Amino acid sequence: MPKVKDLSLWERGEQELAWARANMPVLSAMRKSFEKEKPFSGMAIAVALHLEKKTGALLEALAAGGAEVYASSCNPLTTDDSVAACLAKRGMEVFAWSGQTTQEYYSCLQRVLDGEPDIIIDDGCDLITLLHGERKELLGKVRGACEETTTGVNRLRAMHAAGKLRIPVFAVNDACTKFLLDNQFGTAQSTVAAIAQATNKLIAGKTAVVAGYGWCGRGIASRLKALGANVIVVEIDGSLSTRESGLHRALSALYDGFRVMDMGSAAPLGDIFITATGGKHAIDKEHFQKMKDGAILCNAGHFNVEINEPALRKLSSKVSQVKENIACYNLKGGKRIYLLSEGRLVNLARPSGQGHPIEIMDGSFALQALCCKLLAVLKKGSLQAGVHSVPKEIDEEVARMLLASQGIFLRKPSKKQLDYAKSFEEGT
Ligand SMILES: NC(=O)c1ccc[n+]([C@@H]2O[C@H](COP(=O)([O-])OP(=O)(O)OC[C@H]3O[C@@H](n4cnc5c(N)ncnc54)[C@H](O)[C@@H]3O)[C@@H](O)[C@H]2O)c1
Repeated sequence: MPKVKDLSLWERGEQELAWARANMPVLSAMRKSFEKEKPFSGMAIAVALHLEKKTGALLEALAAGGAEVYASSCNPLTTDDSVAACLAKRGMEVFAWSGQTTQEYYSCLQRVLDGEPDIIIDDGCDLITLLHGERKELLGKVRGACEETTTGVNRLRAMHAAGKLRIPVFAVNDACTKFLLDNQFGTAQSTVAAIAQATNKLIAGKTAVVAGYGWCGRGIASRLKALGANVIVVEIDGSLSTRESGLHRALSALYDGFRVMDMGSAAPLGDIFITATGGKHAIDKEHFQKMKDGAILCNAGHFNVEINEPALRKLSSKVSQVKENIACYNLKGGKRIYLLSEGRLVNLARPSGQGHPIEIMDGSFALQALCCKLLAVLKKGSLQAGVHSVPKEIDEEVARMLLASQGIFLRKPSKKQLDYAKSFEEGT
C-alpha cells in the first residue's frame, strides 16, 4: 500500500503534473515512444528522487514503458504532497511525504526496495547504499542503476575504489547535458528564487558569500551578481573529489570578477551565506561567532552537513521557527542568525523551494529515461559493476532534442571538416 500525506490532494497534483508535462517536450517524446516499445515490461524500477512534479513526469514515462514504479523522495523535506497523492492514485507505489523524520525517510527507502527492483534511480546514493547493506539479498536481481547528483557519484566512486560496488551505475550527473545545465543554471535559479521566496528580502546591495565554486556554486554566484549582490566566493586549498582543485576553482572565480577568500575572512562580511560544496562544515563554529547580527544561512549542497547546525545550536540560548523555512538562532551574546530549511537543500525544501526550472529537468530526466532504457535492453550482466559514463550518443541526443525543442537545429560537420579533425588523430 502506498503511503502519502493526504490522498485527497491528488487534483492539485494532477494540475502540477500537467504543467510539468506541457513544458517537458523531450521527456514527453520519450514517454510516447516508451508507450509503443514497452522497454520496461515486466520490470520494477525503484526510484529515490525529490518527489515533485518534474519527477512525476519521469515516473509517468517509466510507467508508460511498462515499468512497475516504486518511488520515495531522496530527502525528508522535498516531497510535493499533491504530486505524491496523484501518483499514488494512479497506482504507483509511492512512499513519500514532506517533513519526514530521519527514521521515516529510511523506512520509505526500505519500502521502495521491497519492490525487488530490476533498475534503480538514486539521487545522493542512499538507496544504493541501503541495497548494498541491509538489503544485499536483492543485489542479484538488479541490472543496474543511475545516479543523479555529484555527491552520489562521489560516494559511488568511493564504494567502487573500496571494492564494494556490486552493480553497474550510470553517473548521470557527469553527463555534459546534466552538470553543465542542471548543476549550473538549474541550481542557480532555484536557489536564488527559494531564498527570495522564503525571506522576501532584497538581494541587491547585500553581501552574499557563496562557499564552493563548482558547477552549482558558479551558477549561484553569477545569478546573485546579476541581481545586484556583492558576491564573495569561498574555496579551499585542496582537491576533495573534483578534477580541478579548489585552488583552480578559486582562480576561475577571481577571473570571473568575484572577491575570493576563506570562510574565516568572509564570515564577518556576509549578509547571506550559501553553501554548495558537497563537503562537511563549510560553515563552522568559529564562523558563526564572527557573523553579523541577522546573517542568513542556507545550503544548496546535497546533504545537511555543510552548515554545522549542531554547533550553531550549542552557541544559542534559544532556537525558534520564526516562519515556514526560517529558524532563528539567538546566540548567547544577543546576536541572531537565521537558518533556512534546516540547512537542507534550500532550492528543494518545501514550500519555498520548488526545485529546478522545468526545462532543466526535461534534460536531466531525459538522460535518466534513456539510461534506464539502456539498462533494460542490454543483456543482464553485460555491464560490469562500477561507475559508468553516460554514453556520448545519449548525452548528445538529449542535447540535440533540447535544442530542437527551442527551434534550434545545428549543422553537422562537413566531410572536409571531419577529415581535417581526423588528420590530427592520425598524426598527418
Ligand atoms: N541543490 C541542487 O539542486 C543541486 C543540484 C546539483 C548538485 N547538487 C549538490 O551540490 C553540491 C555541489 O555540487 P557541484 O556539482 O557544484 O560539485 P563540485 O564538486 O563541482 O564543486 C564543489 C566545490 O566545492 C569546493 N569545496 C569543497 N569543500 C569546500 C569548503 N569547505 N569550503 C569551500 N569550498 C569547498 C570544492 O573545491 C569544489 O570546487 C553536491 O553536494 C551536489 O550533489 C545540488
